[in-house]
Amino acid sequence: MPQTNGSQAAQPREAAQLRQAAEDAFAEEIAALRAADDRPRPPNWQLSPQAVVTYLMGGRLASGFEITPKYIGERRLMEVAVATLATDRALLLLGVPGTAKSWVSEHLAAAICGTSRLIVQGTAGASEEAIRYGWNYALLLAKGPSREAVVASPVMRAMNEGRIARVEELTRIPSETQDSFITVLSEKTLPIPELNEEVPARKGFNLIATANNRDRGVNELSSALKRRFNTVVLPPPATIEAEIAIVETRVAALGRAFEIPAEPPGADQIRRVVTIFRELREGVTADGKAKVKQPSGTLSTAEAISVVGSGLALAAHFGDGRLSAHDLVSGIAGAVVKDPVQDAIVWREYLETVVKERTEWKDFYRAARETA
Ligand SMILES: Nc1ncnc2c1ncn2[C@@H]1O[C@H](COP(=O)(O)OP(=O)(O)OP(=O)(O)O)[C@@H](O)[C@H]1O
Ligand SMILES: [Mg+2]
Repeated sequence: MPQTNGSQAAQPREAAQLRQAAEDAFAEEIAALRAADDRPRPPNWQLSPQAVVTYLMGGRLASGFEITPKYIGERRLMEVAVATLATDRALLLLGVPGTAKSWVSEHLAAAICGTSRLIVQGTAGASEEAIRYGWNYALLLAKGPSREAVVASPVMRAMNEGRIARVEELTRIPSETQDSFITVLSEKTLPIPELNEEVPARKGFNLIATANNRDRGVNELSSALKRRFNTVVLPPPATIEAEIAIVETRVAALGRAFEIPAEPPGADQIRRVVTIFRELREGVTADGKAKVKQPSGTLSTAEAISVVGSGLALAAHFGDGRLSAHDLVSGIAGAVVKDPVQDAIVWREYLETVVKERTEWKDFYRAARETA
């Protein structure tokens, strides 16, 4: 096959990717950590557990190299998660929507084994093949069952290569199918009965699953499977300051990725969005003085990030490049009002009883009234 000039061609293509995997986006950080890492590494890990936690929480290396924080929250949670992966137990990241479960799972896999792409998306339709293996039917018919005709699932590949496989939304997978993980996790091998063979897991193999405890009742984990996981519950940001920091960091990264030609949002704008989300989520105003009705949908940090992100795009392309209340209002109302009747009442009441009373929020109240 004709090759274009390798190094030059690779650069623009990478940069043109809409979303880079963590191991590519943070390749430099991982390489720097690796170079500085003199602690023992579990078999087949590219970093020591300490270095993985530094990658997640951020820090400065002896060389002065800055590692950006990926997870903003309690360090201990990341330590427990990383320590779990160094044992024979798998890791289950549990939490309400938007608490960075998928985000942490991706960064853990990238830092530990160099790829976050060995991933099974849990859906109601997920089959055993998606977890174990399938067949290349053309080869199967032509030559009969053979290793060549086996189409490995991401889990099988992770076992083979001694890497981390990720399972997103584990509890959306039907219970019978979930049970395929039991053999994988307890026997550390994947049998292929058709060939009378099995694929043993190499050292370094493990599994990170995420599940949303808001969707509870979709498919509970069987107790047999639960016992094979250590669960780490990721909580919503404890303080408003932490939540603002998360939104600020993520919006800045999104602004760069989408090349949005706008000024970075003012801290007061972000604080306002986060305050509104927290008050509606918790059902009480920030000063604890007044009760607020709660809307039906989730108002997680993830939604706050996307509201500010879309606001920035509006400001850049249809405004003067500076994020204004006007650019945020429709996004916030859209996030709050999921049920057109009930939530519309909740939002209106919040505007009239809380927003209107805050003198420094006048611009926002006015913009909201105009859009309503
Ligand atoms: N504590 C946090 N630290 C850093 N980023 C966070 C934190 N909480 C949320 N985020 C950000 O929120 C966004 C959403 O996170 P993510 O998609 O991982 O949520 P999730 O828990 O998997 O949600 P879901 O249950 O809906 O799948 C990500 O961009 C992530 O960076
Ligand atoms: Mg997720």
